[in-house]
Amino acid sequence: MEIEEVLERLKGGEYLVEPQRLRRLVEVLLKRQKDLVVFSENVKNEHNFSAIIRTCDAVGVLNLYYTYDGNKTKIYNEHITMGSHKWVFLHRVEDAVSTLEGFKKRGFQVVATKISPNSVCFREIDYTKPTVVVVGNELKGVSEEVSQIADVNMIIPMYGMAQSLNVSVATAVILYEAQRQRSQKGMYDKPQLTVEEIKEILKKWAYEGVIEERKRV
Ligand SMILES: C[S@@+](CC[C@H](N)C(=O)[O-])C[C@H]1O[C@@H](n2cnc3c(N)ncnc32)[C@H](O)[C@@H]1O
Repeated sequence: MEIEEVLERLKGGEYLVEPQRLRRLVEVLLKRQKDLVVFSENVKNEHNFSAIIRTCDAVGVLNLYYTYDGNKTKIYNEHITMGSHKWVFLHRVEDAVSTLEGFKKRGFQVVATKISPNSVCFREIDYTKPTVVVVGNELKGVSEEVSQIADVNMIIPMYGMAQSLNVSVATAVILYEAQRQRSQKGMYDKPQLTVEEIKEILKKWAYEGVIEERKRV
């Protein structure tokens, strides 16, 4: 599906953005990877969570699921997301295990990060399959329950004195490996979203979102 065809089919829709902006939004949507999902298990630091959102947007992740047991109502910082929180759908869930089991039933592989000598190297994973990448809390990592139900536990090799990377850095390293594999397979050139799905998202991005922005000014 080419961009011109999509724009043609959007004609008559009510959008509160300039045509060039609409085109840009559609370009982004045509590259979104519906079947590459990130699950953040209780990442608490707003800088980390914001950086994860920003990387999700950059790589084309549309949906970011998360658990959070802290007391903030918003765990991202708009100065760090640089607006990317508007382009990634954030889904707060109560229970990581049942959410991930649900993904597995829908044919996704669940790959969880785990800093252990028994984990496989993150580059060995085939990210061109429908995949949920799970990253964990800054102190505790991914929970034992999630690690148990994951199809694979994976690690980014570490050769220094520190035992782990910052969670947002680890997420970026993994997502860019996924991006490399998907790009090599031409997955960014074959849109995954249907025109109907694009219309639904544009209702939020180019209509409701704009009204919200205007109210805030
Ligand atoms: C600071 S680490 C957590 C450290 C924790 N003590 C542990 O053993 O998991 C926070 C998160 O970053 C990610 N991470 C950091 N370094 C990693 C690595 N080398 N391989 C895979 N994931 C890593 C994982 O998602 C991890 O749960």
